Amino acid sequence: MNGPVNDDSAHALELIGVSKEHPGSPPVAALRSVTVTIRSGEFTAIVGPSGSGKSTMLAIAGTLERPTAGSVLVAGLAVDGLPDRALSGVRAGRIGFVFQQFFLVPALTALDNVATGLLYRGVPAAQRRRAERRIALASSAAGCAPRTCGTWPASA
Ligand SMILES: Nc1ncnc2c1ncn2[C@@H]1O[C@H](COP(=O)(O)OP(=O)(O)OP(=O)(O)O)[C@@H](O)[C@H]1O
Ligand SMILES: [Mg+2]
Repeated sequence: MNGPVNDDSAHALELIGVSKEHPGSPPVAALRSVTVTIRSGEFTAIVGPSGSGKSTMLAIAGTLERPTAGSVLVAGLAVDGLPDRALSGVRAGRIGFVFQQFFLVPALTALDNVATGLLYRGVPAAQRRRAERRIALASSAAGCAPRTCGTWPASA
């Protein structure tokens, strides 16, 4: 990675001239040259009518989609052109998503779904297993057996 990822004085997020065009006939311009800066600690809501590009903007800001033009900086780091592996690292370390859907991995228990996040943060296997044990204890304390309350699809 390049850039001051750990520079706390950096803006949390910057979109500079971001456009997104979906191919088709005719192509759809979902975003047209959006420039916005969100500072660390700032709370921001994106509002607009249906189809105005909110989801597209959030997907690009969250590095889930790439813009057709323009730049995205996350905590001062320009993410344009970063390979998927590096983007996964940025998402794991810098971005939190709360989706409308759960997006759990169906083949995994809830316990393993939680621990998967640690994988992307580069936490070694032994440490992940220790974390799993702590999650299991918390599950028991919450009144459900860790493996059974963690089974799919009961967790949905
Ligand atoms: N994958 C896609 N292919 C083609 N057009 C798309 C695609 N995704 C979004 N669009 C179009 O881009 C525009 C912006 O869509 P987007 O989903 O970002 O809007 P939105 O503000 O989130 O809408 P809503 O409030 O309904 O969720 C719309 O015209 C939409 O039809
Ligand atoms: Mg939307």
